[in-house]
Amino acid sequence: MLTPRGGQAPALRLGETKSMFTPRIAPSMLASDFTRFGEEVTRIVAAGADLLHFDVMDGDFVPYFAISPMTIAALRQTTDVPFDVHIMVTRPRRYIDALATAGANLITFHIESADAPEAVIKAIHARGVKAGVALSPDTSIEAVLPYLSQLDLVLPMSVEPGRGGQTFQPGALEKIARLRQRIDEQNLDVEISADGGVTPEIAPLAVQRGATILVAGTAIFRSPHPELVVKQLRQA
Ligand code: DX5
Ligand code: ZN
Repeated sequence: MLTPRGGQAPALRLGETKSMFTPRIAPSMLASDFTRFGEEVTRIVAAGADLLHFDVMDGDFVPYFAISPMTIAALRQTTDVPFDVHIMVTRPRRYIDALATAGANLITFHIESADAPEAVIKAIHARGVKAGVALSPDTSIEAVLPYLSQLDLVLPMSVEPGRGGQTFQPGALEKIARLRQRIDEQNLDVEISADGGVTPEIAPLAVQRGATILVAGTAIFRSPHPELVVKQLRQA
């Protein structure tokens, strides 16, 4: 369900302006109107979302709270669109069963968290869910390379985790390119997601370097025409 359309993304070719790969678009529900969450899901699925991105926080790994497994379980009743759950928590292992039961299709935890990555990946896969690892902006890709062959997705974050509405940090682009090179060298089927400050202007830069999923909160939800933004992001 989460395999890239048309196989692996191409590596960046200099001078290439348009990617040969169509990314999947994952609106980040953190930017939606929390007073009418269910309607926001329906609205954004109608606007063309390929996945829905949910941010889970524990008030410890990041000093905020966001969306809970209970909320995700409730929203699971409203749509069949895959749920891409990004957990910014110190102890990811503790959350896996609740999130799998809630209906997550993909769970992405942070490599900077306190649990052993192999154990978390194993726990996610044991529940039949895809496993991803996220890196905060100050973390180098070397931290995740040992786990690449066990993963379904890598997310090199382009903002500090915890809040929407921040500006894209361009350092993420080089990380995407280097991760894509490693993934392709090893002939692996690992997606790369861009998350944080993604706009229609940023999208082609990320996709040309090998991103296959684009997460966008502010750009989509603050627009009067989210369906156009989803389309523009997809045409990266
Ligand atoms: C930040 C979250 C993002 C955030 C993206 O910690 O992981 O998913 O909602 O929001 P924008 O697109 O506004 O940067
Ligand atoms: Zn996120």
